[in-house]
Amino acid sequence: MKSTTQNIQNIRDIPKAELHMHIEGSLEPELIFTLAMRNNVTLPYASVEALRAAYAFTNLQSFLDIYYAGASVLLKEQDFYDMAMAYLERAHFDNVIHTEMFFDPQTHTERGVAIDVVINGLHRACVDAKQKWGINAVLILCFLRHLSEESAIETLQAALPYRDKFIGVGLDSSEVGHPPEKFARVFAMSKAAGLRLVAHAGEEGPPAYIWQALDVLGVERIDHGVRCLEDEKLVARLAKDRIPLTVCPLSNLKLRVTPDLRQHPLKKMLDAGLCATINSDDPAYFGGYMNTNWEATFAALNLTATDAVTLARNSFEAAFVDEVTRAGYLARLATCYD
Ligand code: ADE
Ligand code: ZN
Repeated sequence: MKSTTQNIQNIRDIPKAELHMHIEGSLEPELIFTLAMRNNVTLPYASVEALRAAYAFTNLQSFLDIYYAGASVLLKEQDFYDMAMAYLERAHFDNVIHTEMFFDPQTHTERGVAIDVVINGLHRACVDAKQKWGINAVLILCFLRHLSEESAIETLQAALPYRDKFIGVGLDSSEVGHPPEKFARVFAMSKAAGLRLVAHAGEEGPPAYIWQALDVLGVERIDHGVRCLEDEKLVARLAKDRIPLTVCPLSNLKLRVTPDLRQHPLKKMLDAGLCATINSDDPAYFGGYMNTNWEATFAALNLTATDAVTLARNSFEAAFVDEVTRAGYLARLATCYD
């Protein structure tokens, strides 16, 4: 690799982990229409083009409304499998060798889809993708924070019989007005079940939500977390404890968390010594998968090959894997810059 990564083709050479993507956010308009036809679901859009034209978001909520509508076509185990296989093939193409995929069971159980249909379909895709492409894929169950903690607890209890098929829990959906502390009990229960803990915080919400995610929920990673830069003490804490932040640049641009990618906080986060990573969040909605996020961010912020290695290394440091697997990933990374 050259000393500066102006040549965007190099991004593909770098093995990397993706730690923040919502599998329902990988549903491309074409697949939404295919599944709608297969399942006799009527969509409020006349065509793929009309649906894509609706992807003009002004904030997180304006996106979530369309994202939940898109997920309404998922009914059968095969639908969840097909969605996940499409993403995993795409991730493999981007040299993502490890991915931790979020899924939102309540989006489906609220429509009468049984949780085993969701988990079994996604998990079968993880197994088949490993066999087909060698990619390591695991699942993290997210609670929807606009719903009650009781609903989250019911969801956890319904999922626990499939405990071997997901590795952790997270917290997503509408952030502002739904602070992490609302979910203290369900995160304690999840921890007791041996699950890994993450939460979205500091995407649109204030730094106080990041503090709460750390100190009330006890999370091991923060999803987004870009607003941490508003609080010096918080930055010091995140740096000292090496708490990873799973940053999603194109998502931040499309949801207007940042007005322009050239003003994106990622570089400042790296300069502050934070364990920041690049991820795609909802790639079908925000204009790109993993490498498109890397390429756009490198171009906008003039990042270097050294930054590329740091970001890939951070992604492996932050991955929920055993130390032997982590050492294997880091060794694979080392072969591309030695
Ligand atoms: N669900 C899917 N994408 C999300 C995001 N960026 N923030 C919160 N919840 C989400
Ligand atoms: Zn997200």
